[in-house]
Amino acid sequence: LNLAANVLPERLGRSPVSTDLFQILKARHACRNFDGRSVPDDLLRKLADAAHRAPTGGNIPYRFVILVKDPIQLRMLKTVSPGHFGDSSAAIVVCTNLKPARQEISGVDAEQCSLYDAGAAAENVSLAACALGLGTSFIKSYSETGMKRILGLPEECRTELVVSVGYPTKDEPKPRRKNKEGKITYLDKYAQTWNNDNAGQPSLAQTERLMQFNTLKNRIFEMAVFLLTSAQISLNEPQTYPSLRLLDAAGRLTNLYSKDEALGVDEFLFKAREKIDANKHKAMASEKEFAKFIDEMVVEFSDELQRRYSVGRNSSLA
Ligand SMILES: Cc1cc2nc3c(=O)[nH]c(=O)nc-3n(C[C@H](O)[C@H](O)[C@H](O)COP(=O)(O)O)c2cc1C
Repeated sequence: LNLAANVLPERLGRSPVSTDLFQILKARHACRNFDGRSVPDDLLRKLADAAHRAPTGGNIPYRFVILVKDPIQLRMLKTVSPGHFGDSSAAIVVCTNLKPARQEISGVDAEQCSLYDAGAAAENVSLAACALGLGTSFIKSYSETGMKRILGLPEECRTELVVSVGYPTKDEPKPRRKNKEGKITYLDKYAQTWNNDNAGQPSLAQTERLMQFNTLKNRIFEMAVFLLTSAQISLNEPQTYPSLRLLDAAGRLTNLYSKDEALGVDEFLFKAREKIDANKHKAMASEKEFAKFIDEMVVEFSDELQRRYSVGRNSSLA
């Protein structure tokens, strides 16, 4: 009879590590020594919820988790996972369904995003578990074929990463200090060290230099670079993104205006940019809302076009 399953970790003498994120970041480490007690359902639910809160590329809902706590199912999973160490009492398998992902984004991006998305979800699980006084380890050393058979995953789905979960043993090894080579931070570009010369806020000289670059010629060139790089990345992005890039470019045209130059500010375009900036992110949230917004903008621009050429509905030429 496992009474531990219904007892809160606090009552078992394992208080949550902290609610301070930076403390949790310090405390989290790969745990491979568990005491075998089962983890209560409410905590497992919290971990699954933490996984779902992680970001997904293109906001495409193709990631899901399988919470494995049935002892026989878990035992079979461990058996096909040579890298699953210790007596964890549960596992969270982060999976993706690549079918919708491939439909929405190109194959290349679907393949890559699924890895990042799984990593983000697994890290959320690890940090949340640490906050709850639980131990976890990422596991990738398993047989994908074996895992898929045991979990009953359809062909189009893939297991990306497993996170083992359990209560750490009291004498569980402390996190290994990462050596210097594993903690490299460069500043601004490769191999540039962070030192007294470049610490702190940008200097006045740097800010002035930036202003010098702010010529109309440079701003036009930057627009060209924006369009060119958009053309490149759009090849692999979700369906709505090429449209997003063009909409964004229409707004960014206002970057070509400057107070110092005699171009004369275009109030309509500036207002349009504000509206575009406030609404463009609908591309990531709702395709329908995004399409509706573009339609609204086209109506506004078409009316403005007619107003400018004096052939609007109310004009004598209409
Ligand atoms: C993608 C990935 C796969 C991993 N696979 C395994 C694994 O199969 N088995 C295991 O014991 N640890 C695995 N780990 C954990 C790493 O060994 C561990 O994170 C690393 O040694 C650093 O230690 P730390 O997590 O305590 O900082 C994996 C980690 C990552 C990021």
